[in-house]
Amino acid sequence: MKGLCSMRVIFLGLPGAGKGTQAAAITEDFKIPHIATGDMFRAASAANTALGEQVRKYLESGLLVPDDVTISVVKARLQQADAASGFLLDGFPRTKPQAQTLDEILSELGRPVTQVLYLEVRRDELLRRLTGRRVCSGCGASYHVVFNPPRLEGVCDRCGGPLTQRKDDQPEAVAVRLKENFERTQDLVKFYEGKGLLIRIDGEQPIGHVYDAIRQALRGASV
Ligand code: AP5
Ligand code: MG
Repeated sequence: MKGLCSMRVIFLGLPGAGKGTQAAAITEDFKIPHIATGDMFRAASAANTALGEQVRKYLESGLLVPDDVTISVVKARLQQADAASGFLLDGFPRTKPQAQTLDEILSELGRPVTQVLYLEVRRDELLRRLTGRRVCSGCGASYHVVFNPPRLEGVCDRCGGPLTQRKDDQPEAVAVRLKENFERTQDLVKFYEGKGLLIRIDGEQPIGHVYDAIRQALRGASV
């Protein structure tokens, strides 16, 4: 798609807001990398790397991984060649220090963020989504038993991998995640609003409608 590769977009939203679902479709459309810190941490944890050992207890309990660890992972990822002409950040930044460091990194690279999309969803709906979510253990695709079921129960439409429930989608960890993220997300909304970058998206619409709203918002990024 001509000219759209210079998108440097952030998806903000509470756990279960639909960041991963929408990011998968949008990054495929625009051929930009989908940089999702949660996915990177889960992959490291599953592969038992040093990073995985370091972050596992945070992931499973729903607490945030410390800023220094998270920032160094994202910094290294943004320096990879495929991120040079655009990217979509899903789940990063999540704290003010992360946002400020991201600004510094990108201004050093001469590639500032172009848009920040905030997917707004109320708490009771987030709970419905998180408790019914199933994810592919092969490719990480996200489904919902009611709202977005796979064609064949328990099997990923995209890669045929088995669907499982994330450990942090258990009620106790869900409560921790919502608590950890609520105020921080509001702070980031204000931070990016102040920079004139924030676009609010009604994330409670059906998946296809949210996608259309995002596409419309991103049209302005085609430079
Ligand atoms: P992460 O993996 O990013 O989890 P999260 O922020 O809690 O977000 P989710 O992935 O749960 O939700 P989502 O918005 O992607 O929703 P989805 O599209 O899947 O992070 C996990 C952990 O990693 C953190 O807790 C922390 O420990 C660590 N971490 C990650 N980033 C970090 C950072 N920057 N700093 C520190 N620590 C970090 O959708 C959810 C469900 O709803 C699915 O079932 C889906 O099918 C369904 N759905 C989606 N859209 C709709 C819709 N419109 N209508 C109905 N159903 C829908
Ligand atoms: Mg996600």
